[in-house]
Amino acid sequence: ARVDKSGYKHFMAKEIWEQPTVLADALSAYLDGDDIVLPEGLDFSETDRVTMVACGTAYFACLTAKYWFETIAGLPVETDVASEFRYREPPIPDRSTALFVSQSGETADTLAALRYCRGKADRILSVVNVAESSIARESDIALPIHAGVEIGVASTKAFTCQLNVLYLLALKAASDRGRMTSEELATALAELRALPGVFNAALDRDASVAEAARAMAEARDVLFLGRGLMYPLAHEGALKLKEISYIHAEAYASGELKHGPIALIDKAVPVVVMAPNDHLFDKTVSNMQEVMARGGQVLLITDATGAEAAGEDVWRTVILPEVSPRLTPLLYALPAQLLAYHAAIAKGTDVDQPRNLAKSVTVE
Ligand code: G6P
Repeated sequence: ARVDKSGYKHFMAKEIWEQPTVLADALSAYLDGDDIVLPEGLDFSETDRVTMVACGTAYFACLTAKYWFETIAGLPVETDVASEFRYREPPIPDRSTALFVSQSGETADTLAALRYCRGKADRILSVVNVAESSIARESDIALPIHAGVEIGVASTKAFTCQLNVLYLLALKAASDRGRMTSEELATALAELRALPGVFNAALDRDASVAEAARAMAEARDVLFLGRGLMYPLAHEGALKLKEISYIHAEAYASGELKHGPIALIDKAVPVVVMAPNDHLFDKTVSNMQEVMARGGQVLLITDATGAEAAGEDVWRTVILPEVSPRLTPLLYALPAQLLAYHAAIAKGTDVDQPRNLAKSVTVE
């Protein structure tokens, strides 16, 4: 089917703004009452380790999933980018599941990494958008993310839909492994079902993100900081910004600030801090204060209580609705995408077709 921009200026804008609907549809494909509907035999009780491999945005989805699988399901996860994984001859222990995430299902390095795992891992799972793709076909079980066709080179709705499926898998693993009661699972699924509505509320903050993006568009370098589940998202935010606005952006774990990037801080380097008011918030605030004490301009993306606790010295704040701490990666992805989008608009770059990039990298 032909896909048009449905009145939006760019495919990327359309794909950002359709996320509430797309997520709701993706959820309805995977949920039946208080049950997660997954293919027969997809059980994690006999699995001791999951190896997750991908490229680009899909890799940051894997990095996020690592936190979920380890904390919720107590299941160790290894993650790597496919171009490294495929050549470093990684040993694959017994009782391992290999999981590949790819929007297109055609990324050459990811496909090669999958082939490397064939015969070594107990089973090969993939999380793909294109259900007929090579990666899907070569997997034992392929799980579609149901994002619909994604045209913008910078991935947006595919990322949130990848996170959605990976989160469902982490919940499934937790219940298979006796780490989660059926009541806890029901609560988690109810929170997830409410997320499309929360997405709408987050997209309503667009004007404040756009304003910050315009102010940031003049910068040469931008630093993204996050802790815990916000650390992979800091990477995704930095990737989005560099992909389409060509502003140099780097992500660091907040706790690593002192081990290098703090040397870069001055008035000219905006620092995007993604920090919901969770159990790690105080630590992030103290990192933020170290930035501000050196003249750094902080754009804080947080919730209402976080904004209040952060104090007056923050350069700009984007306030998102509060959600369960586990769901923050999906929600905070939206302002990260909007920030990149509006910075690109301010710079006049080609949002949907950024220079030198391809939607799908089918050669090495
Ligand atoms: C390219 C695209 C990215 C994407 C990456 C992995 O670099 O520009 O948006 O994240 O490939 O693609 P895949 O289709 O495997 O998810």
